[in-house]
Amino acid sequence: MKTIQVQLGQRSYPIHIKSGLFKNFPDLLMETNHGQKWIIISQHGLMELFGFELMAKLKEQSFNIDYISVPMGEAAKSMKEFSNVMSQLTEFECDRSTTVLALGGGVVGDLAGFAASTFMRGIEYFQIPTTLLAMVDSSIGGKTGINIAQGKNMIGTFYQPKGVLIDPDFLNTLHRNEVIAGLGEVVKYGAIWDADFLQEISDWLDDIVSFPFEKAVKRSCKIKAEIISLDERESGLRRLLNFGHTIGHALESYLGYGRIRHGEAIAHGMQCSGWISERLNLLSKEDADYLNITINKLPLPKIKNIHGNNLMSFIKMDKKSEKGILNFVVLKGLGKAAISIDVSEKMLQQSLKVLH
Ligand SMILES: NC(=O)c1ccc[n+]([C@@H]2O[C@H](COP(=O)([O-])OP(=O)(O)OC[C@H]3O[C@@H](n4cnc5c(N)ncnc54)[C@H](O)[C@@H]3O)[C@@H](O)[C@H]2O)c1
Ligand SMILES: [Zn+2]
Repeated sequence: MKTIQVQLGQRSYPIHIKSGLFKNFPDLLMETNHGQKWIIISQHGLMELFGFELMAKLKEQSFNIDYISVPMGEAAKSMKEFSNVMSQLTEFECDRSTTVLALGGGVVGDLAGFAASTFMRGIEYFQIPTTLLAMVDSSIGGKTGINIAQGKNMIGTFYQPKGVLIDPDFLNTLHRNEVIAGLGEVVKYGAIWDADFLQEISDWLDDIVSFPFEKAVKRSCKIKAEIISLDERESGLRRLLNFGHTIGHALESYLGYGRIRHGEAIAHGMQCSGWISERLNLLSKEDADYLNITINKLPLPKIKNIHGNNLMSFIKMDKKSEKGILNFVVLKGLGKAAISIDVSEKMLQQSLKVLH
């Protein structure tokens, strides 16, 4: 088992990663069991796949455990579902000692983490990610949240879990397109932080069927943990994790949520950002091409008929556009991300041509 530590003083926590780790979850959770109430927050399909088995295993070890099921999709990250979770926690007679297990993808993780951070002013929770995106990204770093009509993730907290338990074998049942989308974030880690890793990913993508997920998850988590340990609240370094996200978020909003997956949108966003970095003379043509070729190895949905003007309003709304200045993540070389404030509207619009 590989254990990576997120170093945040008293709020430090481990990320345990290993194929087949599922069967060891009770052992890993045992030391935090003091007879309190445990609640799995998950979705029905995931309870059928993994949750009921986990509950049975934990009950065998005398855990006092129940579960709460939330709907599938982004709709679960709503005030209504948040309120439902709060009511159910109360009905189960949960108290300040209760521990939550967030079993699912980013949707479950964000909602369950937010619920844990607010129920009785905060109770402990573990992230048990089941999608690739959640394994390498959303389960680490303590960003929790829900959506309101005015925007995605508008309400939320920074609230670190007690630990993250990752079994890459969970990916065996995940829809292929969800896996591909998660790979977008994996490519991002190589692009912003580790050129050797990017090269490995690029080679692995030549034979996607034998992609070594366990290895890739470990490396990605290590990078994210390192960045979070240095900048928990996104005041500097953590912003680099937004590489590809300014344009990616705009594509998601413009096309409509559900039309394009987050990881797919940011993969396209990274292609545009590569082009912009080259245009700013920060990235060589050779390196920009390499990034592009790597991303093109992912079978992404084709983007048609995007006019720069249509995207601009979404880009302006992006919260990274602070006080009128767009903090845009560029590459100063493969594996070396930086913030640029020199990216013009025109450049953003022109960059979209790499998607056609
Ligand atoms: N907190 C953060 O730092 C952070 C970072 C990135 C994204 N996010 C959030 O994550 C969310 C997206 O998460 P996601 O991409 O994991 O999507 P998701 O949670 O909606 O999961 C995708 C689908 O796959 C199903 N599923 C999950 N695991 C499965 C498995 N092992 N086998 C079969 N089916 C499985 C789910 O039930 C769901 O239908 C967004 O709401 C986004 O805002 C948060
Ligand atoms: Zn992302």
